[in-house]
Amino acid sequence: LASIDVDVAAVEPGTQLTVKWLGKPVFIRRRTPEEIEAAKGVEMSELPDPNAENANIADGSDASDANRALAPFEGSEYAADEWLVMIGVCTHLGCVPLGDAGDFGGWFCPCHGSHYDTAGRIRRGPAPRNLPVPVAQFTSPTTIKLG
Ligand code: FES
Repeated sequence: LASIDVDVAAVEPGTQLTVKWLGKPVFIRRRTPEEIEAAKGVEMSELPDPNAENANIADGSDASDANRALAPFEGSEYAADEWLVMIGVCTHLGCVPLGDAGDFGGWFCPCHGSHYDTAGRIRRGPAPRNLPVPVAQFTSPTTIKLG
């Protein structure tokens, strides 16, 4: 599996980088405290897809916000749940969702109207699954390795 390193030092809270990896867009978002709080306030029973869809943790883990976020490098200044890394391909038919959009403050897929929340979880619309979290980790305080 091809790996790439992404420098995230310049990413401000409330913004995201989109990088190409294995031919697909990957969203790397630095979330605001409000975005994190909104995601943590959601009951699991409200989620159409209750699975974390996170390649870094055990199959069958629930889609809690903590199971979606990427842990920062040990000792870094980033908050525990600040970073969210996801493959930016709608789980319906593969369009690229727009950031800072939709009824849940996360992403919106304009192709057929799927709304994702601030943890990238599907909340309304035809998409069946949460945006998938790829294999990823911080390898320095400001470097995320994909793959
Ligand atoms: Fe995103 Fe259909 S491809 S809603």
